[in-house]
Amino acid sequence: MVVAGIVAGGTGSRMGADRPKQMLDLCGRPVLIRTAEAFARHKEVGHIIIGIHLDWYDEVKSLAEKYLGSIVTVTKGGSDRNETVLNIIQRAKQFDDVGEETIILTHDAVRPFVSERIIDGSIKAMDKYAICTAAVSATDTIVVSGDGAEVSDFPLRSTMYQVQTPQTFRVGMFEKVYSGLSDKERAEITDVCKLFHRKGYEVGLIEGDRRNIKLTYPDDMAFAEILYKKNFR
Ligand code: CTP
Repeated sequence: MVVAGIVAGGTGSRMGADRPKQMLDLCGRPVLIRTAEAFARHKEVGHIIIGIHLDWYDEVKSLAEKYLGSIVTVTKGGSDRNETVLNIIQRAKQFDDVGEETIILTHDAVRPFVSERIIDGSIKAMDKYAICTAAVSATDTIVVSGDGAEVSDFPLRSTMYQVQTPQTFRVGMFEKVYSGLSDKERAEITDVCKLFHRKGYEVGLIEGDRRNIKLTYPDDMAFAEILYKKNFR
């Protein structure tokens, strides 16, 4: 049994909608329900925990009951993404069948196209790594610029990857890593993989999928509708 932790505590400012982007409609159901459904379909997922801002808690709770039933638990989001992850883990520990060794896949609520293959690969990687992340090789050339005006470095494109989610680890490992960080590190490091890397753990790469997009800007919603109709109808 594994746990899916769906981070949905953000406001979606870049989307500029009248509600957080995870609450927008994707072919008849809110995005975060589509995302939760992808995990509910997987045979090893026993609990899905959604971390959401308290303003949306009641609405998400009733949507989850309506569409998914008792596999979903809703908890409060945090002031940043890592805090949402932490809240989800604290909620997960309240289940009798969740312990330190339990694998948790943390996933952006706004990536509804996560596949069974990615979930399988993420679980399997826990035999080898303390943490792993889905990622795809960069298609565009990536350059480095400290000031946004001039390029300071041209890293080799074949070594560049774009990180997706899930990011997967065991419940006890996250707590061990998180409790070993200073307040400054916690505030500065917004990525869970980077937290583990800072503490000296190898971060495993799982081959992601170009369809596993993060809905960020308004155009992404139109693209998501096309992808949904192509894959699920
Ligand atoms: N997230 C979260 N808790 C926060 C902030 C973000 O759980 N306090 C989640 C978002 O809900 C999203 C994921 O982290 O599912 C990825 O973050 P991002 O795409 O940056 O979402 P937002 O912060 O909502 O978007 P924006 O940066 O445009 O405001």
